[in-house]
Amino acid sequence: MDVIKKPTEAKGKLGILMPGLGAVATTLIAGVEAIKKGKSQPIGSLTQMSSIRLGKRTENRNPLIKDFVPLAKLSDIVFGGWDIYEDNVYEAAVNASVLELHQLAELKTELEQIKPMSAVFDPNYVKNIIGTNIKKETTKYDLALALMKDMEKFKAINNCDRLVVVWCASTEKYIEPTNIHTSIDEFEKALKNNDELIAPSMIYAYAALKLGIPFVNGAPNLTVDIPALIELSKQTKTPIAGKDFKTGQTLMKTIVAPGLHARALGVSGWFSTNILGNRDGKVLDDPENFKTKEVSKLSVLDEIFQPESNPILYGEMYHKVRINYYPPRGDNKESWDNIDIFGWMGYPMQIKINFLCRDSILAAPIVLDLALFMDLAKRAGMDGIQEWLSFYLKSPQTAEGLKPEHDVFKQLIKLQNTLRHMMGEDLITHLGLDYYQELVESM
Ligand SMILES: NC(=O)c1ccc[n+]([C@@H]2O[C@H](COP(=O)([O-])OP(=O)(O)OC[C@H]3O[C@@H](n4cnc5c(N)ncnc54)[C@H](O)[C@@H]3O)[C@@H](O)[C@H]2O)c1
Repeated sequence: MDVIKKPTEAKGKLGILMPGLGAVATTLIAGVEAIKKGKSQPIGSLTQMSSIRLGKRTENRNPLIKDFVPLAKLSDIVFGGWDIYEDNVYEAAVNASVLELHQLAELKTELEQIKPMSAVFDPNYVKNIIGTNIKKETTKYDLALALMKDMEKFKAINNCDRLVVVWCASTEKYIEPTNIHTSIDEFEKALKNNDELIAPSMIYAYAALKLGIPFVNGAPNLTVDIPALIELSKQTKTPIAGKDFKTGQTLMKTIVAPGLHARALGVSGWFSTNILGNRDGKVLDDPENFKTKEVSKLSVLDEIFQPESNPILYGEMYHKVRINYYPPRGDNKESWDNIDIFGWMGYPMQIKINFLCRDSILAAPIVLDLALFMDLAKRAGMDGIQEWLSFYLKSPQTAEGLKPEHDVFKQLIKLQNTLRHMMGEDLITHLGLDYYQELVESM
């Protein structure tokens, strides 16, 4: 377990660097620039909009999270990133078609200034897209060194005090950990030998961690979820978190499923289907890339329902997830969930959820919060896997042998208690103990 100390103040500028300046990243950047200009509000961001209860309920202390812990201010954030396309952030945002053109026009000057650095890319890992803005170094080790140079140069040019890297690039094909991923020595040898099982996302992560820069994986790729990079994060005292931003359908699942479980209602089937037409959807149309996403999406329900402990209620549950690429929808994904449940005496019932969501609108505040909290964690001396940030992730990374917590409400309690602990406040379990304590004290 990390030794958490009170975080130091957030002095100077924070650079948020993103591999992948596509729909999610450009929506985040445009949103923050709009907020800085007073043209928008950070809706959906806990760091900016949520408060946290401190002490007993009678104390009435509910500061905003951003006033409770020393987070970087939005005005101190500088954005940058890498992409295989040469488009600047304004062009990429227009292309992503998430935000309205008139809104982007108001931010054009700021967005145009952010140009992608050349990417580390391997078409074996991401099919269906082709770009030209790609680094030419011949070994994966040299590519890592080139990324480190990019990071240091960005920091110097933009006069940043600290950096955070958040992977917002396409989902890579599914791979499983092998012996080259088991230790940092093996991993470095494999980087030099150009081993095909080192994915581009791992090269970005390695480069960041070597420099002590916190790294978040927003896609379902393996990336930092391997012993070698966990070891490196401990060595360089750097926080890591992953994987896969929890938006849309999975967010709904982790809201609804804990409720059914809490009421001991049975579930015989959960069929989830989606249509989406953005570039992410195009990449996921390839079976190898879809497999990575599918594994991430499928694990959620088993962990919440725990069929092995509740075989009568959940032992026979059939869970299916489909994603279909359907260009007319663009970033406005539509998902349908059919949930077959059963109650008293086994009588069946059905729940239908039809969520017309906007993927990147849900993802942008998650990226912001993760970046700000990871920077905070670094300043609080935390390293390795940041399980308290599971709240934001579809497939939370955990210490070896532990199962992830998927219940969004338990995840929130863990996040808030970590912040309380960091700042020397009492933890709150919501088990009513404080109520009984108050009762005893008042007697
Ligand atoms: N939008 C959501 O709600 C959501 C939720 C969970 C996870 N994600 C994940 O976040 C990622 C980004 O989503 P998006 O909608 O912005 O996708 P997107 O396709 O619009 O953007 C991804 C960008 O990454 C670039 N890219 C691909 N490989 C790269 C590499 N090796 N280095 C640098 N750039 C690279 C692509 O050119 C593209 O511009 C995807 O992996 C997606 O699965 C998104």
